[in-house]
Amino acid sequence: MNLSPLSSPTDLGRFAIGFDPRDRSRLHQLWDEVIDSNRWAEGDLTKRFEDAWAAKHPGAAGAVATGSWSGGAVAALKHAGVGPGDVVLCPSNTFMATPLAALHLGAKVEFVDCNREDLCVSFADFEQKLAQHKPKAAFVVHIGGHIAFDIQRIADLCRAQGVFLIEDCAHAHGATWNGQAPGTWGDAGVYSFYATKTVSTGEGGILVSRHPELLEFARAFRNYGKPDHEVEGLNFRMSEFTSAIGLVQTERLDELVAWKNAAAREHLDPVHAGRLQLPDGMVSGLYKYIVFDPIEKSTGKVYDQPCHRILRHQVDLPNSDWVATGHWCVPIYYRPELGNQEEVTA
Ligand SMILES: Cc1ncc(COP(=O)(O)O)c(C=O)c1O
Repeated sequence: MNLSPLSSPTDLGRFAIGFDPRDRSRLHQLWDEVIDSNRWAEGDLTKRFEDAWAAKHPGAAGAVATGSWSGGAVAALKHAGVGPGDVVLCPSNTFMATPLAALHLGAKVEFVDCNREDLCVSFADFEQKLAQHKPKAAFVVHIGGHIAFDIQRIADLCRAQGVFLIEDCAHAHGATWNGQAPGTWGDAGVYSFYATKTVSTGEGGILVSRHPELLEFARAFRNYGKPDHEVEGLNFRMSEFTSAIGLVQTERLDELVAWKNAAAREHLDPVHAGRLQLPDGMVSGLYKYIVFDPIEKSTGKVYDQPCHRILRHQVDLPNSDWVATGHWCVPIYYRPELGNQEEVTA
């Protein structure tokens, strides 16, 4: 395919789903395979997608695809034994999906503040809230496509204290820190493939974990507890058609993230000195390009209302309140037809 040079950085700002036009014919071919297989659910494509996603997560024992992020998150919480009355720690700077997954199981959510530098859970506040509330499980959310800067210390603390740690990886597709992938610090990582994410399947999610028994639990949970109904689950299965998109997207993920990063270095970094700065060795999947100076052409905030405000919790979280007003997102979407960014950068 001939790739023309990027004509203008503003082209990066027109919304496009992270789907490469070159994958269209392969996807159609896979969909034909599914049609001909007469197996539109629980078939080979879901397994192929899961294996491909797991291969991008060294350290994980496997992956379980679900119909949405919720399926993976609730499976992980249930496997951790979270139920009515248990406490789950959760950042306030996140989408309501994160606390709602715990609330759905009757748990009590206690909110944790974030850092201003990365918009993710603050270790200092996490340590304090863990001592105060004695949670059974906790969430960290990798906001915006990079990895939470305090993830290692939080994971170490959770392991030492027996707290089950779930990484909400809904934004974190393709991110790495010294080669390590999101979802492999904690006990589980849960991705979303909703239609605006870095890569999408329209709707969908996937859980990764280093615990084979959690993966087995999640497979039963997404399928009404089949085969033996020891697990009380519901239907969170992913169809074979959706899994085919997931497989194609997974195969394109590295290129997509490299393209976005090259585009950001070339066109956005020179004009956004006040951008979020990553630590050495970290690559962001660039779901969002976050800046701390007001800009005219923004897609707005990652979140403009912290969850503790939405749920009217009386807790003081100054950094979460600050973040809600103190950052902006510069639009950046994968549009390979605009030019091969690696060539443009070279
Ligand atoms: C941080 C976060 N967690 C969870 C979700 C929920 O994902 P889904 O829409 O696939 O249920 C989203 C987004 O949609 C999200 O941004």
